[in-house]
Amino acid sequence: MKVLQTVQDTRSASREARRRGKRIGFVPTMGALHEGHLSLVRAAKAQCDTVAVSIFVNPTQFGPNEDFSKYPRSFDRDRQLLDEAGVDLLFAPSTEEMYPSGAVTYVTVEELSNKLCGKSRPGHFRGVTTVVSALFHIVEPDAAFFGQKDAAQVAIIRRMVRDLNIPVEIVVCPIVREPDGLAMSSRNAYLNPQQRRSALVLSRALRQIESAFNKRERSASKLIEVGTQVFAEEPSVRLDYLEIVDPENLDAVEQINSPALVAVAAIVGTTRLIDNVVLRP
Ligand code: PAJ
Repeated sequence: MKVLQTVQDTRSASREARRRGKRIGFVPTMGALHEGHLSLVRAAKAQCDTVAVSIFVNPTQFGPNEDFSKYPRSFDRDRQLLDEAGVDLLFAPSTEEMYPSGAVTYVTVEELSNKLCGKSRPGHFRGVTTVVSALFHIVEPDAAFFGQKDAAQVAIIRRMVRDLNIPVEIVVCPIVREPDGLAMSSRNAYLNPQQRRSALVLSRALRQIESAFNKRERSASKLIEVGTQVFAEEPSVRLDYLEIVDPENLDAVEQINSPALVAVAAIVGTTRLIDNVVLRP
């Protein structure tokens, strides 16, 4: 596996692979890798000839009071996992490499970026779309792999790629969970054992909603009520939002007549966790 720190080396390596006729798959990450990330790498391996992964804890997607400085970093372990997984290129730039001094240009997907997590994390999605578009220009992948775990991020990146006509195929992979249902996340490392147990309320609420839906409940407000009741049983966890929205434009839906995204965010101790499920009538 080639480990590259600079834009120029990464672009040359990627262009060289393309010249040799390789289809390039790309998995952007912030590191602290777990099975969720590795599932994206495996999908990229299965669908592409050359796989590039980036590890970059992107400062512009963290708010001033968020966890940028304490975000888990485990570069040596990550590098080993990616090497074992058969990754060809690892791009691990410094902040200065990604944001040359004086950088003032942002990519914003209006409207969608203020929904779901965008409401309580202003500027978050602007940081995501800015760094992802920069990464796309550096790696120039044929396909890029994202997790359904971050469903709003998927909708926003798909819209960016469509609106700006970026020549990349977006591939979305299912949520990978711990055996007890907790969605895998680098932030799960922040949880103490008691919080780890309380955190199960997110997936439990989604499962209850899904089971009410399977019993033919189609009213979004009734389904949300089912979920908020589950949260009421776990008062140590603060619900940020529980919404049922259109998976493409992230607008709230009232009746579920087409696939709908049930998205939840909650704060366990000081850790903000998200999860979701798609209901398909
Ligand atoms: P990060 O949180 O490291 O996630 C990188 C990718 O892994 C994202 O596409 C995310 O959806 C996916 N992922 C995380 N947990 C997952 C799980 N349990 N199951 C399946 N996929 C999972 O998302 C980001 O980084 C950043 O916003 C980034 C896109 C890299 C831009 O900085």
